[in-house]
Formats: sequence, C-alpha cells, structure tokens
Amino acid sequence: MFFSSKGRDPKTIPYFQGSEFTGMKYNRIDKKLFIKNRQDFMDHMETSSLAVFNSNDIYPISADSTFPFQQHRDILFLSGVDQEESILVISPNATNAEHREVLFLRETNEHISIWEGEKLNKEAAFEVSGIKTVYWLQDFERIFNQMMSEVDNIYLNKNEHLRADTTVQTREDRFIEKVRNDYPTHQVKRSAPIMHQLRSIKNELEIELMQKACDITKSGIERILKFIKPDVWEYEIEAELIHEFIRRRSRGFAYTPIIASGHNACVLHYIENNAQCKDGEVILMDVGAEYANYASDLTRCFPVGGRFTKRQKDVYNAVLHVKNEAQKLLKPGITLPDYHIEVGKIMEGELLKLKLIDQTDIKNQDPKWPAYKKYFMHGTSHYIGLDTHDVGPWNEAIKPGMVFTCEPGIYIPDENLGVRLEDDLVVQDSGDPFNLMADIPIEADHIEELMNS
Ligand code: GLY
Ligand code: MN
Ligand code: MN
Repeated sequence: MFFSSKGRDPKTIPYFQGSEFTGMKYNRIDKKLFIKNRQDFMDHMETSSLAVFNSNDIYPISADSTFPFQQHRDILFLSGVDQEESILVISPNATNAEHREVLFLRETNEHISIWEGEKLNKEAAFEVSGIKTVYWLQDFERIFNQMMSEVDNIYLNKNEHLRADTTVQTREDRFIEKVRNDYPTHQVKRSAPIMHQLRSIKNELEIELMQKACDITKSGIERILKFIKPDVWEYEIEAELIHEFIRRRSRGFAYTPIIASGHNACVLHYIENNAQCKDGEVILMDVGAEYANYASDLTRCFPVGGRFTKRQKDVYNAVLHVKNEAQKLLKPGITLPDYHIEVGKIMEGELLKLKLIDQTDIKNQDPKWPAYKKYFMHGTSHYIGLDTHDVGPWNEAIKPGMVFTCEPGIYIPDENLGVRLEDDLVVQDSGDPFNLMADIPIEADHIEELMNS
C-alpha cells in the first residue's frame, strides 16, 4: 500500500496546518512540496538554460464581468502561487545566486487590498513558495534581459496535452511569441515533456491533497443518498453537492458535473442537469470536488426509487465487474494502450453475457472499432491530478505514484439506461492500486440499503 489513510493524526496532514493566508479557501500547503518540484525540474534542465512559467489570465465574459480565476497548473506545481499576473523564472546556473529562482508578482498596495482583498506581498510569497527573490512585475523586462544574457537556451511552456484545444491565446502563448521575437538567437527547449513526467508521479503530499478532494466528494455523495427520490430535479442534486463541497473548503466541482437520469445518462457529456428524475430510472452522477486545485473524479449510479430492477442490476454488476478487473491491471509496467486492449476483452465478455452483442458481431467487427464499442465508446482511464484529465506520458509504461481513474460504462439508449462507475486509484510498487475512493459506496445492494435505511 502506498500509505494508509487510516489512523492519521490530523496535525500531520499538510492541508490541516491552520488558516494562514493563501488567498484561497484551502489551507496553506507545505512549501517543501514546491521546493522539491522545482529541484526536480532543474534536474531535467540542460546547462546554460533558464525556464519561465506564466500564470493564467483572468478570462473575460462581457462588460466588466470575468470568470473566477483559475491558476495555470504548472506555475502552481512549481511555486504554489495561486494568483494572476505572476511569473516564475528558474535559472539554475545564474551567476547571481539570488537569481536562480525568481518570482515576479503584481505589486500590491492599499488600493488593491481595499478593492480586491489581500494579495501576496514578498514575505507571503516566500512563505507560500520558498522563493526568496521576489520582484514586482514592472521590473520583469529589465531583470529578465539580464538573466537571458547569461544563457543559451530558454525552456518555454506550450500546452502539449493530447486533447488541448488551443483556440484561445493564453498568457503563456503570448509570452512565447514575445520571447521568440525578442530573443531570436536563443535556443528554445520544451518544458512540457518534463512537466508531464513530473506531474504524472504524485508524491505523498500530493496524494494527501487528492485524498482530501476525494473525501469531500464522499461527503457530497453521503448527503445525496437519501435526498434522491422520485420527482427530484437533477439541478437540486447538483445544488446539494456544491453546498457540501464548499462548506468543506473546496472551490466547488473539479469539472462540470454530469447529473443524468434515465436516457440522459447515454449522452456522455450531458451537463444541462435540468430534468426531473422519474421512479424506475437510474441516475448517473459524474461529480467530483476539487481541493487546493487537485481534482477528484467520481461516477456513481443510483436507482431513483431506491431499488434497481433485475435488468438494471445485471447491467450495473457487469460494469462493476469490469471496473474491479480493470483496476487490478493498473500495475507498473503496463502501457495505457495495452491496458485499454485488455479492458476491452473483459467488457466484451460482459456484453456477451448481457446478450447485447453476440459472436457474429465479434466475427464481423472492425478491429479499429470492436463490437463492444457500441455500448462502451470511451476510454477506461486517464491521468488525474491538478487537472482532471491530467498531463502524463500516455504511451509509456505506467509507474508507482501515478494516479488514474478507472471508469468503464455501458450505455443502452433503447433501455433509457446508462451505467458508469469511476474511482481514482494510485499505482503501487506492487499489488493492487490504492483506491482513494474505497469508502464511497459502490456495491448495488449496499446502495439500496443506504437509500432505504
Ligand atoms: N468527468 C470527466 C471524466 O470522467 O473523464
Ligand atoms: Mn468522471
Ligand atoms: Mn474521468
């Protein structure tokens, strides 16, 4: 086992260190996490190089409205700074030792503190990040120019997530353009492959934060177990969940929640959550809390009336069987593509038993889109961490400390039934993965018992 979640002294848990200022709902994270992460990044850098990481913009809606700020996960991972208009520069060989790690922050002042609240001053920035050298943003051009004059290479941080949609130009993208224009004779290196490696393997501090996110999700599920009744509306369930999440110091959902009763569960990205749940239907809930920017990602399916029909339970148990078998495969050495092939075979067996496919379907199947895909058309597992669909080396052998979801499903529109079950699992050195959601009810009989007790 990676470590046990039982018997912990709360005082030793990093997210339980009191309410020092972070500017956020979550408690201060021990800065040793960020100090270590920066050291790990430096260990991957070539000599005569520096690396730059930018915060996200605050994105506009219209008029003077903006979306709530969400920090870029890479500067967060390397510094803990959860604030807009921030820049981190790492330059391990800088002749001025004070310039080996530098933060540039927006200058705070009395006006800002009255209108926007407290922002990081230089002392607080050190307490959060462990970085001693903090300048205000207006000094960036001058100091950065000096730093660039000492190196041959610059690591730039393009979003290289496999499924990234890059139509919006980020602050990082603008910076890349400017650097390429202002410093055309420097060699550009890619930060993304290093970040994907580092962020994919979680250390104990990160696992604690992810456990906290999963525990908050668990509280939400406990809250709705008895709230779900015939004629409740999907958005009423969403409201119960977010209430529970926020009161436990989460900012809210880690991703847009899917609360899908009956036929809606067959629409994979259903997010309207505006239907009334009817007796006899099953409701699929793909809902996870975030904590300190770490995601949890859970799916559970409950019978609206408190009891599954025989057919619903058969389908449910088929999905549960695939999940139980699939997660055992999440062991060091297997690659995700090979894992997905193996899970496909397990699912095929279950769909045959449910008589949803037959041997003729299998004989005639397109190997690129096997027969089981008619009822299970999405992947089984993805990396999870600071992003719900986290970064990681998708085609390499998996390693201890990686965290994956396991989320098989069967969707039968003709029966107004969709079942998916999803937990978050930490790969161990040996043995089965450690389930961060092991305490959240999943057995069909247990769910019925809890709904009716
Ligand atoms: N909630 C998104 C996913 O399960 O991947
Ligand atoms: Mn999910
Ligand atoms: Mn997922």
